[in-house]
Amino acid sequence: AKKAVLGPLVGAVDQGTSSTRFLVFNSKTAELLSHHQVEIKQEFPREGWVEQDPKEILQSVYECIEKTCEKLGQLNIDISNIKAIGVSNQRETTVVWDKLTGEPLYNAVVWLDLRTQSTVENLYKRIPGNNNFVKSKTGLPLSTYFSAVKLRWLLDNVRKVQKAVEENRALFGTIDSWLIWSLTGGVNGGVHCTDVTNASRTMLFNIHSLEWDKELCDFFGIPMEILPNVRSSSEIYGLMKAGALEGVPISGCLGDQSAALVGQMCFQDGQAKNTYGTGCFLLCNTGHKCVFSEHGLLTTVAYKLGRDKPVYYALEGSVAIAGAVIRWLRDNLGIIKSSEEIEKLAKEVGTSYGCYFVPAFSGLYAPYWEPSARGIICGLTQFTNKCHIAFAALEAVCFQTREILDAMNRDCGIPLSHLQVDGGMTSNKILMQLQADILYIPVVKPSMPETTALGAAMAAGAAEGVGVWSLEPEDLSAVTMERFEPQINAEESEIRYSTWKKAVMKSMGWFI
Ligand code: G3P
Repeated sequence: AKKAVLGPLVGAVDQGTSSTRFLVFNSKTAELLSHHQVEIKQEFPREGWVEQDPKEILQSVYECIEKTCEKLGQLNIDISNIKAIGVSNQRETTVVWDKLTGEPLYNAVVWLDLRTQSTVENLYKRIPGNNNFVKSKTGLPLSTYFSAVKLRWLLDNVRKVQKAVEENRALFGTIDSWLIWSLTGGVNGGVHCTDVTNASRTMLFNIHSLEWDKELCDFFGIPMEILPNVRSSSEIYGLMKAGALEGVPISGCLGDQSAALVGQMCFQDGQAKNTYGTGCFLLCNTGHKCVFSEHGLLTTVAYKLGRDKPVYYALEGSVAIAGAVIRWLRDNLGIIKSSEEIEKLAKEVGTSYGCYFVPAFSGLYAPYWEPSARGIICGLTQFTNKCHIAFAALEAVCFQTREILDAMNRDCGIPLSHLQVDGGMTSNKILMQLQADILYIPVVKPSMPETTALGAAMAAGAAEGVGVWSLEPEDLSAVTMERFEPQINAEESEIRYSTWKKAVMKSMGWFI
């Protein structure tokens, strides 16, 4: 048996769109000691609709915690060393549940869901001139992406939700709220809260005053009494009420992209990271200033690490489909059996041979915000085979990142000299090299790609009353960096990128 690890440990739930993980870190070195992961089902009941089962999500969290604790036991590591738990989560995904029974009143409406397209169009008509009313308060464009319109849809279409609101039994939350309420006791005193980063993705939250905005709630017709309390990203919200970690405080909460920013230690103005998950999200810390984009990026709350600590903001480029395209190749086309296989296929050809794949499955997010776009694969010949399509899928992730990086550089004025990356897909070396080639700057990835969970663990460990993580760089001594330099010439990189842009134009206007 390995020797017991001394010193405080911190756990983190990373509840993403594709899977749930629980990970345990050593707070002195950021070494990942053990983890467990469970894939989450996605349901597509109609074209453009994406739902998940909130109970399956909750169950997966318990399962990951129990399995990770078992694995720690096998390593002779005492789980009583776990001093805090952080939660990071897929953002925007909307749940309404009954506070008396603990039952969700409908499936979770996932961030990628497009059912609210007509709701959004109707709301646009009510804003005289432009959507500055929403954007100036929230930093967000009026879009199907954010929770307010999903909640509006639930209130308009689900009788159980309407009834629970009338009877004062309904609670609304993004996944963090649903999990924290359930884990801290649910119907027996669960804490109904969210943090500023998750709140900033609902389109109901004023990012200047850091409060729910009455005018926005009136505009979307949302009853304010069903909203969670908004807290900082690092403070004790409550204690685990059941399972192997009963009694451990939950003391960190961040939307997954903010968590990754913290996990990458992007604490300075101008520092940025790109996370490759189901989607792909580039966030640049803009310090205490809200910077409003002229090039299709969002303004969002980056983090607030303590009740009395200042708030930090970020500019964000959001891409809806990144890892999801690999899952689609696996589940819908069946050309790979596991996500890892894509690297092997792409390597066989080393080029897409003129094939371009625009995976606009949920319309296009940044910088286009074009809900009418749909996925296309173009440039096909009889020579094209599944390896070229696999390669084009990877390239699509890189091109989309290039588009948001260009927008970020234009908004910030100072181009990024390199890109810090993380997330599951970064273990794909072909993808990382392609990314460096297409951006034409070095790409730097940490040896431990689970930066999202690390950020949530750091926030939890640093909370007042826990105090086991100092947020200094020396606490990350177990994390080393790998660098990918561009290997093609700049001209070739530009030609490929401009052909991609032509393909993007062809993906638009399919769904009116
Ligand atoms: O805004 C959606 C985002 O939080 C989802 O993250 O990791 O599931 O792609 P991920």
